Amino acid sequence: MNANIAAVLYLVSGILFILALRGLSHPTTSRQGNLFGMVGMGIAVLTTLALSPPSDVFGWVLVIAGIGIGGGIGAVVARRIAMTAMPQLVAAFHSLVGLAAVLVAAAALYAPAAFGIGTPGDIHGASLVEMVLGVAIGAITFTGSIIAFAKLNGNMSGKPIMLPFRHLINIGLAALLLILIVAFVLTGSIPLFWIITILSLVLGGLLIIPIGGADMPVVVSMLNSYSGWAAAGIGFTLGNTALIITGALVGSSGAILSYIMCKAMNRSFISVILGGFGGETAGGPAGVVETRPVKHGSAEDAAYIMKNAQKVIIVPGYGMAVAQAQHALREMGDLLKKEGVEVKYAIHPVAGRMPGHMNVLLAEAQVPYDEVFELEDINSEFAQADVAFVIGANDVTNPAAKTDPASPIFGMPILDVEKAKTVLFIKRGMGSGYAGVENELFFRDNTMMLFGDAKKVTEEVLKGL
Ligand code: TAP
Repeated sequence: MNANIAAVLYLVSGILFILALRGLSHPTTSRQGNLFGMVGMGIAVLTTLALSPPSDVFGWVLVIAGIGIGGGIGAVVARRIAMTAMPQLVAAFHSLVGLAAVLVAAAALYAPAAFGIGTPGDIHGASLVEMVLGVAIGAITFTGSIIAFAKLNGNMSGKPIMLPFRHLINIGLAALLLILIVAFVLTGSIPLFWIITILSLVLGGLLIIPIGGADMPVVVSMLNSYSGWAAAGIGFTLGNTALIITGALVGSSGAILSYIMCKAMNRSFISVILGGFGGETAGGPAGVVETRPVKHGSAEDAAYIMKNAQKVIIVPGYGMAVAQAQHALREMGDLLKKEGVEVKYAIHPVAGRMPGHMNVLLAEAQVPYDEVFELEDINSEFAQADVAFVIGANDVTNPAAKTDPASPIFGMPILDVEKAKTVLFIKRGMGSGYAGVENELFFRDNTMMLFGDAKKVTEEVLKGL
């Protein structure tokens, strides 16, 4: 294929990727956004194949088998994965992007002529820079994402693990890495390449190990950003514009999302990068068993209270996702509206287990978008609400985030449900949330606990209505 035509096609796929990101920014346009992304990726892959087709049948077999097996596994995993397990899936996928960056850089180092970047022992300086940055970021992303996967998937404790002198070790390792990177660019030494790879693999693990589960959303999005930059690095090595554009888009959007989440959790971005994040204070035991009395009511009580309310604000959380209660919840909202009650949904930026988790579920249940509000837009309304109906949410309502400097979630903005006249909490028992801390709200006078599975209880409330 003519290089000019290929450049135009890569540009088209780049534009489609930008349209995909734009589409994904709102539930109404997200399907279309996904479609743009798929078409863009299809064009990029076909253009690359047409531009430099495999030289023999074996090459074609490898390419087709790679696409078939990889695509097949991807399709099966995507179909089977539970919505609640999406963050660990994303982390696992990022690890593969990191590994790909390492492997491509190694291939380019051993066979530079095939990449058009020089001859063995005489690789162009700029290519050495791209290669070494790609391999370092790729290796950090690889091990970091594996640790993030293990923590999110429960294979490793989600609690912050404090390693002694971790800041010093991390800074020391990073400084050593920088020195070795400069030395590699000057010498192109193959042993140095592998030492850099091993150091980066170690650094990736050390960066993520100290981070507590409650802070993991920022980490996953930060690794997303790293994987983008690693891909952009490979793009330069391969001289592939589409990969450079895609990598830069993923890198910058991941970084922006990390920044937004840091703000949402009131954490400093620098401390995340240093890996000190969330490691200073450990959370209490998960599944706290409480002996203090709480007020608990029945679904009929809840139905009665809400029917007689003027304004109900629904706060969904992780438990709603686990129970798949969103459809019953929407029906409940509809019935309340028929009764003349004003119904709104309040979404915390880190409710659930991934960015936009609650928005996706509510959209799936066809909750009208104009009833769904972000934290900063609805928080002032709890004071005027008769009922805050908290369904499977916990940490995102915990006032300790405002009042207890020793709490691991201290500083995280929360939904001010406590200001509503009555707070109804649907959860199965007195279990703690992701951060493993107790929620003082359960014991307040204006709180009523509705114990049970979120979907079951909501269906009972529906019957009561
Ligand atoms: P959590 O604080 O995790 O609380 C969820 C609550 O749901 C639990 O206390 C649990 O109590 C209850 N629950 C579980 N299964 C249930 C079911 N089937 N029916 C009814 N209740 C059920 O959730 P949240 O308020 O949404 O906060 C999210 C937390 O996850 C934050 O700490 C956040 O930092 C963290 N996190 C967020 C993300 C993103 S990006 N959203 C990613 C990773 C981590 P019982 O056991 O008593 O039922």
